[in-house]
Amino acid sequence: MSNSKPRHFLAEDDLSQSEFLTLIKNAIELKASWKSGEIRESLRNRTLAMIFEKASTRTRSSFEAGMVQLGGHALNLSPADSQLGRGEPIEDTSRVLSEIVDCAMLRTHSHDTIEQFARVSSIPVINGLSDKLHPCQLLADMQTFFEVRGSIEGATVTWVGAGNTNMCNSFINTAKLLNFNLNVACPTELAPDAEFMNKCAGHTQLTTDARAACENVDLIVTDVWASMGQEDDTAQLTKLLSPYQVNDDLMALASKDAVFMHCLPAHRNEEVTASVIDGPQSVVWQEAGNRLHAQKALLEMLVSSRFG
Ligand code: CP
Ligand code: NVA
Repeated sequence: MSNSKPRHFLAEDDLSQSEFLTLIKNAIELKASWKSGEIRESLRNRTLAMIFEKASTRTRSSFEAGMVQLGGHALNLSPADSQLGRGEPIEDTSRVLSEIVDCAMLRTHSHDTIEQFARVSSIPVINGLSDKLHPCQLLADMQTFFEVRGSIEGATVTWVGAGNTNMCNSFINTAKLLNFNLNVACPTELAPDAEFMNKCAGHTQLTTDARAACENVDLIVTDVWASMGQEDDTAQLTKLLSPYQVNDDLMALASKDAVFMHCLPAHRNEEVTASVIDGPQSVVWQEAGNRLHAQKALLEMLVSSRFG
């Protein structure tokens, strides 16, 4: 086993631009190879531990199926039925898992928890969503854009909705990394954190005008109005975000072959109308399915490189 420091994927820019692009290419190849019935065992006998502090359908099923498709295994440790729920420190859990499994994926309330875990880990650590970022979702979103429209370099993407959320932060990071233009259309009260805006200033424009932000763009993206953990603020968020619903009028402003993405789960007729999410420009099912293949490419990049 390698003694060198492991590579983690806590944020999009933990990968270089060329690594990110290679990963997308690999993901597209892995998808074709799986669909053609090829058996691949690049992670044979390897184990991924998954820790979920919050609910998940896509992330859990895609990581678990992904490990199986590569010949390995995934195990789920929820705080409710592991010693984490009884107060075992996150760093101790990390050190123990480093001795037993080959990779760890965490979905946590606080991004700090993943960073604390990664700091002492001797195995690769993957961010499966935190309050700050959702980088695995961006791998699948970018794979999907490449599949339907080709390279995203120079394209224009509009984020519609709360700007201060994990998904929007991840789009801001990726705009800089992959060199596309990002409009963030959001209420002033929910503007992205300065940390992200400053870092990616040349690639991101902020506006409160959703209609102007959607004109001639290549991709429109949104997310639920209240993220997990924000349930108490639902009424206030609904009030602020109601003018930012993605509907047919907004889609009609975008370029003719623009696509619509949503990380899911979605609330129809809140952040997006049923006519859009279930309509011809929506690529949300392909996007969800690509979680599987993009994460297999990520696991191979992080785990198999450690074993040669
Ligand atoms: N998009 C996404 O991460 O979905 P889950 O919450 O179901 O994992
Ligand atoms: N912003 C959402 C994404 C869910 C995948 C949340 O954090 O709940």
